[in-house]
Formats: sequence, C-alpha cells, structure tokens
Amino acid sequence: MSILIKNGTVVTAKETKRANVFIEGERITAVGPAVSAPAGATVIDATGTYVIPGGIDAHTHLDMPFGGTMSSDDFETGTRAAAFGGTTSIVDFAIQARGTKMREALDVWMAKAQGRATIDYGLHMIVTDLAGAGLEDMDEMVREGVASFKLFMAYPNVLMVDDGTIFKALSQTAKNGALICMHAENGSVIDVIVARAVAEGKKAPIYHALTRPPRAEAEAVHRAIAMAEIAGVPVYIVHLSSEDALNEVREARDRGLPAFAETCPQYLLLSIDDLARPGFEGAKYVFTPPLRPKEHQPKLWDGLKTDNLQVVSTDHCPFCFEDQKILGKDDFTKIPNGGPGIENRLHLIYHHGVNAGKISLNRFVEITSTTPARIFGMYPRKGEIAPGSDADIVIWDPEAVHTLSAKTHHMRVDYSMFEGFEIKGNARTVISRGEVIVDKGQFFGKSGRGQYIKRAARGGAWK
Ligand code: URP
Ligand code: ZN
Ligand code: ZN
Repeated sequence: MSILIKNGTVVTAKETKRANVFIEGERITAVGPAVSAPAGATVIDATGTYVIPGGIDAHTHLDMPFGGTMSSDDFETGTRAAAFGGTTSIVDFAIQARGTKMREALDVWMAKAQGRATIDYGLHMIVTDLAGAGLEDMDEMVREGVASFKLFMAYPNVLMVDDGTIFKALSQTAKNGALICMHAENGSVIDVIVARAVAEGKKAPIYHALTRPPRAEAEAVHRAIAMAEIAGVPVYIVHLSSEDALNEVREARDRGLPAFAETCPQYLLLSIDDLARPGFEGAKYVFTPPLRPKEHQPKLWDGLKTDNLQVVSTDHCPFCFEDQKILGKDDFTKIPNGGPGIENRLHLIYHHGVNAGKISLNRFVEITSTTPARIFGMYPRKGEIAPGSDADIVIWDPEAVHTLSAKTHHMRVDYSMFEGFEIKGNARTVISRGEVIVDKGQFFGKSGRGQYIKRAARGGAWK
C-alpha cells in the first residue's frame, strides 16, 4: 500500500514548505516538491491544507481507576476520539499498586490497551512504592520501553510519595536514562486547607480551587527541581497550571538546568470562574491542579512562546457528569478529579494559539508533536515528516470551522469543557502508520490496530 500526499504545505517544527509526501507501507519514504506517485499509489490531494506530523498527547488516563470510579474512556473510545482530533500517539499511565511490582501494573495496562487502541500508545509508570526491589523494577521498566515515571507530591495516603522516594527515583534515572514526571503540588499542606474548609461547611466545587493555592504548586515545583538538581538529572513537570509554578521553571532554566514542563489547554483557556458556575456545574472543571484566575493564562501562553513550557498535553481523565461527577454532589472532595480533552487539543491550540497570533505554525507542531516525541523517546520515529519516520500524518484544513460540543464529540463523556467554543481549523484526514484512519469526519481505523511504542531512554546528559 502506498500513498502520495500532493500539493500540500508540509509544516514541521523547523520549516514550512511546499512538498509532496510519499508513504510506502507504514513509513514515509520521500518528501519533496518533485516526489511523484508510481502507478497504483493512492493519491491524496492536499491543496489548501497543512500536512503536519500526527499529534502526540503525552498525558492521558484511559480506563483508569481514580476517585472511587473509572475514567469513562477506555483505550478504544479514547484513542478513536484522539484520532478524530489529529492525535496519532498517546502516552498513558500505568499505576503501580503499593506493595506490588511495576511489572504487574505494566501487564494490566498492556491488557487494557491491546485489542482496543486504534492509534499507537506508550506507557509511563506511576510509582507509588520503591520499597524492596523498586529501583530494579524501574530499570526493568526502562528495558520494556517505559522510559518515564510519574511521581505524586499530592494525594497523601493515595498516590503521594515522600521526598526520599522522589529523590531515590530521580537518582536512579542518572543510571537508567529515564525521565521523572512530577505531579507538583504540596499535598500535605493542601490536605490541611481542605480539612479546614470542609469543617467550615465549604463544600461546593469552587473550594476545590480555593484549597489548592498556586503557591502550593510553586513550592512543589521548586522542591522537585531542587531534588533533580541535587541528583543531577532532568525533571519534567506535568500539567503546570499557574504563573507561580512557571516562574520556578523559568528560574531553573535560566540557571541552565534541564527542567521541562507541560501545560494543558484547560489552563490556557479556562479559569476559576468555571468552577464557580451555578449549581453543581463547576464539578465539570474539577481536576488537579485546579483552574486559576484568568490572569495566569497570558503568562502560560508566554511560557509556550519562550520555551519555558515545551509541551501541551491534555491530562485527559474523563468522568461523566451525570453519574460520576455527581459522587461529590454534597462534598467537593468526593468529586472524581479529571476532565476530558483528548479530542480537542490540536483544535484549541491551533485556533487560540496560531489563529490568535500567539504562536507560530511551526511552534504549534513543535509543542503538540515533535517535542513530546523527543522528550519521551519516540523521535524521529514519531513527531517528524521525513524519510524513515512513521507515516503518522494529519492533513489539517485551516479553513474548516466547527463548534466543540458534547453533542458531536467522540469522547465517551456527557459534557465538553469547551462547549460552544468556535474553532477554525480541523483534521481532515488522519493517517496512522500509513493507514487512513479518519477522513472527512468518518472513522476507518480498526480497534486493536494501535501498537505499543517501546520508548528509548536517554543517557545522563540532556540535550
Ligand atoms: O485531576 C487530574 N489531573 N486527574 C488525573 C490524575 C492526575 O493527577 O494527572
Ligand atoms: Zn497529576
Ligand atoms: Zn494526569
């Protein structure tokens, strides 16, 4: 099977050029203005569109137990929704149960994904316990292509680990080349503030944000970076939400430290005002870190522009409003933490970033595809349009106008955080490893066609 994409404008992180792209089997084999199709090749006319590397969402939670329930998208529904929005690879999270080996969690998450995923997927490992053979476990995971680990500085007694454990994990990555991803919020302090609020009868969704102040995020980011500096390794801050936290990353990077961070569309485009919506509506926006006052948004956009933030992921962790978010009807602490977004990342960043003149087209590709591929050990197989790379390609129609809505989205969740947002720009055709899986709003991918991505770890020094 071969495909020629012709007459399009190829956009990568580095350049924008008129070029045809030739795909043979699962790989790109030629890119250039004069590349033509041999007899029998399928020809896709990309006139008037951008031909970009498939999106890579490095932070998703599919089929995940959390907050007494399960995230509502599994690997089939979640990856199909991702594909509709132009994402062709995800990195999801397996969770080590305390007192068990990481291998068990890896097997469980592989079983969740295999036979269901419609696009390629990698896995991070959430570390909850390094007692016993935990450090050897980490090395084993790296050999299996799990080249990154997430540790929580929040959720005491559930997922949080102490600083000693964090420091041990960071230090181990000096040897095995993995990357530590930090959920950076001071969970112990937050728990005290939460208990006070509950005792005072402050139980509405807005208190989720008011009990998790930006300083609790900034303090944890500072501590995480300091521990990584002592261990002499890079660190990656997940779902960074506030100006305060960003300042910590910037200060570290200004000192030449390999501190990296992602933010998410919700922090760029939504605010604490959404948590204050009437009735229980605010529960739709309960996730951690919480939404911040609007003033933080331009600072985060600026962080993306100046490369103090390198990646936009979704932290897709959907829970249905009617039968899951409702668990916290009378007490915000019982609202399952998480929100849906896997389908709309490219839409939102393209429209509110590129169309609004906040970032360039190349930067859009860089933060949604190329850099996540690089940071998470998938480049240049993923995140690039060049001979030898996987043919994960999106034909992006910059003129397509559409409105985001739960009525039309493909995520298995009964609301959209971006309901009514008007977007100009959409994925017209999505190709995953040489196969057209989405074309003009129709899905052609088969469940289970997605493959596990065995990711590469980096040695010591970070470039
Ligand atoms: O509220 C969130 N973010 N839920 C998903 C778990 C996490 O911390 O990423
Ligand atoms: Zn987190
Ligand atoms: Zn998450």
